[in-house]
Order: sequence, then C-alpha cells, then structure tokens
Amino acid sequence: MPAEIPTPQPIRLGILLSGRGSNFLAIAESIRAGRLPGVEITIVISNVAEAPGIEAAAELGLPHAVLVSKGRKRAEHDADVVALLKEHKVDLVCLAGYMRLLSREFVAAFPHRILNIHPSLLPAFPGLDAQQQAFDYGVKVAGCTVHFVDEELDHGAILLQRTVPVLDSDDAHRLADRILAEEHIAYTEAIARVAGGEYEVRGRRYVRK
Ligand code: GRF
Repeated sequence: MPAEIPTPQPIRLGILLSGRGSNFLAIAESIRAGRLPGVEITIVISNVAEAPGIEAAAELGLPHAVLVSKGRKRAEHDADVVALLKEHKVDLVCLAGYMRLLSREFVAAFPHRILNIHPSLLPAFPGLDAQQQAFDYGVKVAGCTVHFVDEELDHGAILLQRTVPVLDSDDAHRLADRILAEEHIAYTEAIARVAGGEYEVRGRRYVRK
C-alpha cells in the first residue's frame, strides 16, 4: 500500500479588533477568493461591544465574540481572550485595529504567532494617528507595516512593509485612504508568508529561508 500523504493542517486564524474592521474584511475576502488556501477564520473577537467589525463578522456567519475590556485589569481580560482563542484552536492571531497593548502572558501564549498591522513605516510614527503624524512631519514616502507583536507598542520584528508616495495634493485623510488600500494587500501577503512557513525570525529580523 502506498504511504499516506499527510494533508496539511489548515491555519486557524483568530482576529482581534476594536472598530471598523476593514482589515478583517479584507482578510475574509482573500480567503473567500482563494488567495489564502488552507487558511480559515475560526473566531473574531472584539473588546468593544459596538464595533462595526464584529457586526460584519456576524453578517458573514463567522464565529464571533465580544469580550469588553473597559474597566477590567489587562491581565484578567487578556487571560479570557487567550482562553477563547485556545478554545477555538487558533494558530495565528491577527490584530486588526485592536486598540490594546497585549500583556507579556498573552504574547508568550502565541510565540511569533501574533501579527499586527500599523499604518506607518515603523519605527516612524508608532501609536495613534500615524497617518496624520506622517503627513504633519512632511515625509515624502509613507506606508504600512505588518509586524510580529511583542509587549511594546508597534514594536516587534517586521514581516513586511508597503509604501505609498505622499503627494502634494494630499491631506491626511487622502493619505490614510491610500495607505489603507495597501494595508489590505499587506495583511493577506503577511498571512500567506506565515502560513507558508518558509521563514525564521533572527532577533528583530524576519528572513525568508
Ligand atoms: C488600520 O489603519 C490599522 O493599520 C490600525 O488600525 C486601523 C484599523 O482599521 N492598526 P480597520 O478597523 O481594519 O478598518
């Protein structure tokens, strides 16, 4: 009898969001369109009850949950989120507009298995209103970064970046829209790279094998 060829296990994504959810929807659309073979979204979690992103998850019929963080200790809230992710057997956590720092314990629960997207070319302009910060600074090239998450804000090893030119005719909103379009491409590409597995993280450096 020929040896059985093992079927590759699907990559189970857990999405964390706090707001609009356009990055989540771009990932969901990439899966639907067959651009992320073997990847599935197994749970979408919001820390904000009225986040439009969680309503979108419900409309798509995806498993979803709200775990409100407001008024709770970070360690306790994070422990609940980790438990829910583990319950859904999540392999890869994608922060998609999740407006919270993760505790050390959360990061340790998914080593090199948590991604974030940030709308600047890190390490420039971490934190809030990154596009406005870049515009006000007068940079000529802006963009977005997908990085592995550590306990520091917008800080872990960089997986990929995409750039956009800053035009003379821009304002911060127009710039943010063009960056967002690149974010939607970048997140799918980053997930595909992690799912493909042909890489290692050497210190701060993500390197393809
Ligand atoms: C994006 O700009 C992302 O880079 C940042 O938060 C925003 C979330 O947007 N981390 P959305 O909720 O995915 O539309």
